[in-house]
Amino acid sequence: MTRQSKRSNLHLTGIALLCLSAQCHAVGLNDLLDRASQLSDKLHSLSTSLTHDLDTHFPPMGKILMPRPSMCHTAPLQTPNDKDQALKVPESELLSLVRALLVSWNDPLLLLSSEAPTLSYPYNGYIYSKTRELQENSHNLSAGLDRLVHKIGTSSKSLSPLPFRGGDLGSDRNSRLINFYFLLSCFRRDSHKIDSFLKLLRCRAVKQRPEMC
Ligand SMILES: *[C@@H]1O[C@H](CO)[C@@H](O)[C@H](O)[C@H]1NC(C)=O
Repeated sequence: MTRQSKRSNLHLTGIALLCLSAQCHAVGLNDLLDRASQLSDKLHSLSTSLTHDLDTHFPPMGKILMPRPSMCHTAPLQTPNDKDQALKVPESELLSLVRALLVSWNDPLLLLSSEAPTLSYPYNGYIYSKTRELQENSHNLSAGLDRLVHKIGTSSKSLSPLPFRGGDLGSDRNSRLINFYFLLSCFRRDSHKIDSFLKLLRCRAVKQRPEMC
């Protein structure tokens, strides 16, 4: 090996060592968390606006007949109740929770978009395109979370997604609308959790003092 190439090898090793230090790691992590929070923000605002759109044509009896939030299929997944609780959860565990919540929605989101075109709702074409957007967003966020798990590490308390057992929306016009609306409002609640936990993770990653988040 010539002296020249030895020196450039040393130089490269130096760069590699620099990148192993916290600084280089932090850059990639922050970017990933930024991107993930943008997607979760979008997901939450999409589901909120879609819920409002449906509100206007919802059968008046629907609200009374609608199941309670404790009936949402993700309800058994224990989540922190507030920010203080969430701050005490280790980062890898919070990430695992976010991932389990999101993946639990793969099947129900598919059901929403496949049923939207046949809803007896005046703008079902519009509703359909919005549900497709939800699906695509959720898919992209999922991919981002996988990359984050690589960076942050897997949690020892790894959580599994919850199975969805509601195979269809029912047969009559009103129960289909009610079930559709109910699923969507469960998703809106969960997308809010996903979004707030991811933003908390982002804040914890950049702040020296996480208690300030
Ligand atoms: C999802 O990711 C694909 C590929 O990167 C991109 O083309 C698409 O615009 C993204 N969709 C959303 C809703 O972010």
